[in-house]
Amino acid sequence: MILVTGGAGFIGSNFIRGWRSRHDEPVVNLDALTYAGSTASLAGLAALTDYHFVQGDVRDRALVASLLARHQPRAIVHFAAETHVDRSIEGPEAFAQTNVLGTLSLLQESLRYWQSLSEAARATFRYLQVSTDEVYGSLDTGEAAFSETSPFEPSSPYAASKAAADHFVRAFNRTYGLPTLTTHCSNNYGPYQFPEKLIPLMIRNALAGEALPVYGDGQQVRDWLYVADHCEALERTLSAGQPGGSYAIGGHNEVRNLDLVQTLCEFLDEIRPRSHPYAGLVRFVADRPGHDRRYAIDATRAANELGWTPRKNWREGLRSTLQWYLDNLEWMAQAQSPDFSAWVQRNYNERAQA
Ligand code: NAD
Ligand code: DAU
Repeated sequence: MILVTGGAGFIGSNFIRGWRSRHDEPVVNLDALTYAGSTASLAGLAALTDYHFVQGDVRDRALVASLLARHQPRAIVHFAAETHVDRSIEGPEAFAQTNVLGTLSLLQESLRYWQSLSEAARATFRYLQVSTDEVYGSLDTGEAAFSETSPFEPSSPYAASKAAADHFVRAFNRTYGLPTLTTHCSNNYGPYQFPEKLIPLMIRNALAGEALPVYGDGQQVRDWLYVADHCEALERTLSAGQPGGSYAIGGHNEVRNLDLVQTLCEFLDEIRPRSHPYAGLVRFVADRPGHDRRYAIDATRAANELGWTPRKNWREGLRSTLQWYLDNLEWMAQAQSPDFSAWVQRNYNERAQA
């Protein structure tokens, strides 16, 4: 079986669903169910005998040790993290706690467990760290895309915490021989993304007739990857990645934020027309401090070594993602707790006034 952490979040829940459709192997999902996690994202799996959900924190070493001893996984896929850049600017400590110390705890227990295995089981065991392209910092227009050899130059507290965790992962491989794999992926989009992130936030606000807040001049570029493509890359990394190696994963879909929001508005005008075009709701608001200008990924190593390339074209993917949110308004509504409303107030009221 495999142990997944953070499987009630956006990418983790898509990964578990994809894994179950392609493999017979059981999955244990360890997730703390923070504001960003929801068992509603895994509806339908709870009753299955080969899927086990455990609510708990990756920093709880006794719990992690007992799960490893009981389930004897052949791999660990570590998604659990605090993931929103804007929240990391407001409160960096939670990011150090979960992303750095949580990863360190998981590595320590993974190492102890790995050392207890037979030689054959040690040889095939893998620890997969799901990291981000944000550890590499920002690119200027025309600059070559990030690859596995790009230096770490994180801009936000979130990116710094992910970079710190990645250094621990590398050290556990180099020092103790733990068979680790690390992926550095660009911006994901698709079903079940928490509505604090750009695409679901814009859909939520547009449907409510509220402002669509574009940070700064909206000319920042992100390399959008459909979440199912990312999950496939993770599966290939698990099966074919070189222990100790890292893989840059991206969508070859560089899009400016403003273009993306306007495209979403065009699709909404077609699918859910209202009296005025949705693009009229766009408002430029105060920029994110330290905002990275551009991300782009050169995924040549993943193509050559893992045989992976992204499949989804961003316009097609964006349209089907929009349709998913329109068809799943209940999921969207349950994700919006009092904590979410308070976050929206704090983040956007101040920006709009700046
Ligand atoms: P998410 O915020 O949607 O979900 C995170 C999950 O982790 C939630 O279910 C939450 O409950 C859980 N969690 C948080 N703290 C925990 C803790 N201490 N113990 C156990 N569980 C905890 O995140 P996501 O967007 O799905 O990202 C998953 C991973 O992929 C993260 O490590 C992130 O850095 C990385 N990543 C994300 C993207 C992206 O575009 N979303 C791109 C590249 C890499
Ligand atoms: O690149 C990978 C990263 O992508 C992941 O590691 C992060 O976990 C994930 O959150 C994402 O980070 P971003 O900061 O790029 O995503 P976000 O959706 O927050 O913002 C995307 C872009 O849109 C960014 O340039 C900021 C801008 N933005 C965002 C929001 C929420 C706006 O203009 N307005 C908004 O309201």
